[in-house]
Amino acid sequence: MRAAGVREIGGLVEVFDLPEPDAPGPGEVVIEVAAAGVGNWDNIVRTGAWDVGLTPPMALGVEVAGTVVAVGSQVTDFRAGDEVLGHPLPLSHQGCWAERVVVDAGLIARKPAGVSWETAAAFPVPALTAEQVLSESLKLAENQTLLVHGAGSTTGGLAVQLAALRGARVIATAGPSSAARVTQAGAAEVLDYHDSEWPDRVRELTGGLGADAALNAVPGGSTATIAALREGGRMATITGDPPAAERGIGVTNVYVRPDATQLVELSALLGDGRLTLSVGAVLPLAEAATALEHAISGTKGGPVVLRT
Ligand SMILES: NC(=O)c1ccc[n+]([C@@H]2O[C@H](COP(=O)([O-])OP(=O)(O)OC[C@H]3O[C@@H](n4cnc5c(N)ncnc54)[C@H](OP(=O)(O)O)[C@@H]3O)[C@@H](O)[C@H]2O)c1
Repeated sequence: MRAAGVREIGGLVEVFDLPEPDAPGPGEVVIEVAAAGVGNWDNIVRTGAWDVGLTPPMALGVEVAGTVVAVGSQVTDFRAGDEVLGHPLPLSHQGCWAERVVVDAGLIARKPAGVSWETAAAFPVPALTAEQVLSESLKLAENQTLLVHGAGSTTGGLAVQLAALRGARVIATAGPSSAARVTQAGAAEVLDYHDSEWPDRVRELTGGLGADAALNAVPGGSTATIAALREGGRMATITGDPPAAERGIGVTNVYVRPDATQLVELSALLGDGRLTLSVGAVLPLAEAATALEHAISGTKGGPVVLRT
């Protein structure tokens, strides 16, 4: 089968043939991949800093949307023909940038009817990350004020939507080209992060105190984010750069994990339109290297997706 990935850790992304998957084992399904998400995290896999269960030569890709074509024993929730999506780690056969992928059936959810393959493929990682930040790290409650630094990003934008659905007041940072989208997502205030004094503005907007909770979704953005929090607040960063603790603020360094229960609930919100996600660029599998460059640069105005 055709796949895109690396022949060795740290190698360039190439398109090559890999062996077809065997029949699925107990609890596994084989998915015919329709689309696969591309994120800057795939570069972390490429360079060996994130072990997703594979050894080279390996297809990259940790999020997928497609159709179940084979079902292993002990799988009761899915059958051939089901349209699904997922962030199915660890990967036992190959990554998701391939024509077919074997996944643990306990890690996938049904793709909502009416949601495109591209959107479904780009959804699992950022949606699960946003959900885990809000519900587990920040334990965000109704009426609390949440700061989302980097709300123009896919993950930040979904966090804004999920927080607004919970009844939180959201203050966001975004660039001018994302401000309208972030307001539409539910932010009460959108501050341009190009003004380095934006943390002061957050404090002004919160009666001089600072936000109750914050998500940092900007590499290198943790220090500015913590400065905008109230004493004893909570902060989560998803960019691996937790700041030194200060003023009794609880800091969590979050790494996404697969969670089918959460994914089913998030997919339902996507299906009924309470969550939205606009894809930035769609490329064929043959252009996986370019797709990864786009994802790393973060300049396509939305997530990048490969179509098989
Ligand atoms: N730890 C985890 O498990 C996990 C999971 C998912 C993502 N992440 C990380 O979270 C970050 C966001 O990922 P993503 O895929 O959602 O990003 P993305 O969609 O590629 O975000 C790119 C957007 O971020 C905004 N941005 C760039 N520089 C900024 C700055 N200095 N201040 C504020 N906003 C800025 C820009 O939007 P505008 O300028 O248009 O506002 C840009 O369009 C990445 O570093 C990613 O690796 C981590």
